Amino acid sequence: MEFSRRAFVLGTGAAVAGAALLPSAAPAFAAARPPSWLSNTVLYQIYPQSFADSDGSGIGDLRGIIEHLDYLQWLGVGAIWIDPVFPSPFTDAGYDIADYEAVHPRYGTEEDVAALTGAARARGIRVLFDLVAGHTSNQHSWFLDSLRDNGDDRYIWARPDQLPADGSLPESFVASPGPRPGAFMKNYYDTQPALNYGYARMNPDEPWREPVDAPGPQRNRRAMREVMDHWLKLGISGFRCDMARSLVKDDPGWVETGKLWGEMRAWLDREHPDAVLISEWGDPAVSVPAGFDADFFLQVNGPGDGAPWKSLWKDDPYFGADGTGTTEVFLDAYEQATGKIGSGGHVLLPTANHDSADRLNNGVRTPEELAVAFAFQLTWPTIPSLYYGEEIGMRMVTGLPDVEGSAGRQRNRTPMQWDGGKNAGFSTAEPDQLYIPVDPDPHRPTVEEQLRDEGSLLHFVRRVLALRRRHPELGTRSGVRVFHEDYPLVYLRGDRFLVAVNPRRDAAAATVDDPRLARARHVEDSGIRVDGSRVEVPGFGYAILDLQR
Ligand code: NOJ
Repeated sequence: MEFSRRAFVLGTGAAVAGAALLPSAAPAFAAARPPSWLSNTVLYQIYPQSFADSDGSGIGDLRGIIEHLDYLQWLGVGAIWIDPVFPSPFTDAGYDIADYEAVHPRYGTEEDVAALTGAARARGIRVLFDLVAGHTSNQHSWFLDSLRDNGDDRYIWARPDQLPADGSLPESFVASPGPRPGAFMKNYYDTQPALNYGYARMNPDEPWREPVDAPGPQRNRRAMREVMDHWLKLGISGFRCDMARSLVKDDPGWVETGKLWGEMRAWLDREHPDAVLISEWGDPAVSVPAGFDADFFLQVNGPGDGAPWKSLWKDDPYFGADGTGTTEVFLDAYEQATGKIGSGGHVLLPTANHDSADRLNNGVRTPEELAVAFAFQLTWPTIPSLYYGEEIGMRMVTGLPDVEGSAGRQRNRTPMQWDGGKNAGFSTAEPDQLYIPVDPDPHRPTVEEQLRDEGSLLHFVRRVLALRRRHPELGTRSGVRVFHEDYPLVYLRGDRFLVAVNPRRDAAAATVDDPRLARARHVEDSGIRVDGSRVEVPGFGYAILDLQR
């Protein structure tokens, strides 16, 4: 039996017995960063359109979230991140913002935001908003102004005389709708003009480039600080920063982009020290040292373009019945990231999100394969990021029509399934009025049904979250020592909890040299067999053992 003695120790957590500690980089924000509430939290992502509709409009809203805070508290999450709820023409489901400092009426009002943050905080839950700093909607007044003012520098504009004579446009440029002549740079869709944060280097072939300290780029930085200030004063606890690495253009190594966020971080440290910045970047080894408190392993970007995430959940995944996957890519990336981050921040690990990180229940996995994935996600020292509905095993639903620029991503955005009533309890609207149809499967899981069943996935997720909360050994600040990297994956948390997960169909065994094994308390156990130092885990099985009893 082959052993891995990989050990990862973060911050000031318990040392790992018998393993050499990896050197950790000097933390960039030693004393205050990140706030301890973030280090101890579990994040829950709410896609607001699809979570809960309080007024029968067919679209979820802020009041709907407020009405379900008791559920979230019961589940045991410490923070919710809500995708954009701002005025928007919705060509990209709200990631095309027309006003950063208001709420779109379909979601409610600013009073509702204050009510939400207050009610959430009373339940020990923080609320994070999305900060879409890289671009606005083409309907934002800033952009409309820039169409009428040839000298406006909020966006990246190329004059007609700077464009190719053959009428083609440089990559990522979009022809102006007028009256301003020329073309502007987009950041994502054509309807999302890139805000001008400048370029890291000049290029005589692209005379529209401005340096990062030019007036336009500096003005946009100030504007984003004002946006953050606005929401933080209404009780928001921080931001998930959309496309965070995209701000400064042509920036090899993201040096200038990193400086920009470091500057934002320094400002927050002075003005709102308890607030956090987490990035949609996908490369924690780069983003966290730049100033973020945490970054996701995503389905894109970073080493191998999302390889750590994909190797767990998507491409020949370790969490796959055939058992052909490997943990190596994930463990290597985790080792590299924690080595760079030290105690200065965290890696966030989602199973899914509203983009193309498909739900665990993706049409390939069967429901019996889900618990083992959570046994891992909720006991690894990353911060778990739960996407709404994952906790009951909601499905990725294919074949639905596009909505608001979803471009296929609607498959992961169907309404939350609360109960067996109309529209699964999501909304009282007529089914054809819903933002996205409810999963049509007559056997779709619901919160109500799983609440009644102690053996459900929902109860399992809740129990493991409660365990994680009660025992810092299972949190982000305690070490992990990997005993076995293959099937099953076996690791020790904080020299106390031994976790074994076997996501393949066939049983798998490992040898664990720890004299405490025989007398361990089986806190969670789907049916493992311990025989001396041999641990055999059934197919799709898992166990969490307390070696200290
Ligand atoms: C990333 C967001 O998660 C995605 O939904 C959006 O379409 C793009 N950024 C553009 O803002």
